[in-house]
Amino acid sequence: MSILLAIEGLRKAYLDGGIKRWVLNDTSLTLHAGEVVALCGPSGSGKTTLMNLVAGLLEPDQGRIALHVEAQQLLISDMGVAERARVRRRHMGYVFQFFNLVPTLNVRENVLLPLELNGRSDLAAAALARLSALGLNSHERQYPEQLSGGERQRTAIARALAHEPTLVLADEPTGNLDAENAHRVVELLWREVRALNSGLIIATHDESIAARADRVIRFSQ
Ligand SMILES: Nc1ncnc2c1ncn2[C@@H]1O[C@H](COP(=O)(O)OP(=O)(O)OP(=O)(O)O)[C@@H](O)[C@H]1O
Ligand SMILES: [Mg+2]
Repeated sequence: MSILLAIEGLRKAYLDGGIKRWVLNDTSLTLHAGEVVALCGPSGSGKTTLMNLVAGLLEPDQGRIALHVEAQQLLISDMGVAERARVRRRHMGYVFQFFNLVPTLNVRENVLLPLELNGRSDLAAAALARLSALGLNSHERQYPEQLSGGERQRTAIARALAHEPTLVLADEPTGNLDAENAHRVVELLWREVRALNSGLIIATHDESIAARADRVIRFSQ
């Protein structure tokens, strides 16, 4: 199995009243193509921080984050903001904990946005099929503020998968869903990862989801 993501010795602190408070202290993780890793741990233990570092939205204080894609090694931890944004847009799909949908775009437009940004209109039919699979076809023309929390979450999931990224980061993607929709989301995420031979990092408080992962990283406070 080929390595898709290698994280070594990652450290990240936030400044708290001028004092450094370490959230991640020497975190390492290897993800292979086709694998799912679950991040578990109490609220505030650093799951979202780790995802934001991998996505290049935050810079580590120390450590190495390398994404292996198309026979290249992309050293995210050494890149500047613009290059990290380019890698994120092209190779990653991020289901944010708080969705981050574009408020001025409807559901359909939000989901098709990554395809526009990447010039991949060939993937539009598959992207819209995911909206159906997530039970959202009757909501395609609605704007985020007109959606329930769970509908927003499912839209965010369809958007993250639209451009069929190498790495999917899903931050508590079932946190707002009923059991049936949570099941649909989990099935879809696992199916996509296996079919595309991509990788999935999923933060969850749900032990039944963690149990399905190939590996579980447990954070403590
Ligand atoms: N921008 C920031 N500035 C200062 N502290 C922050 C910042 N972002 C996060 N933190 C702190 O870092 C810690 C880890 O936060 P993080 O969001 O990574 O936790 P989490 O494991 O995702 O929690 P949850 O399960 O509630 O989503 C928390 O104590 C939080 O208060
Ligand atoms: Mg979080």
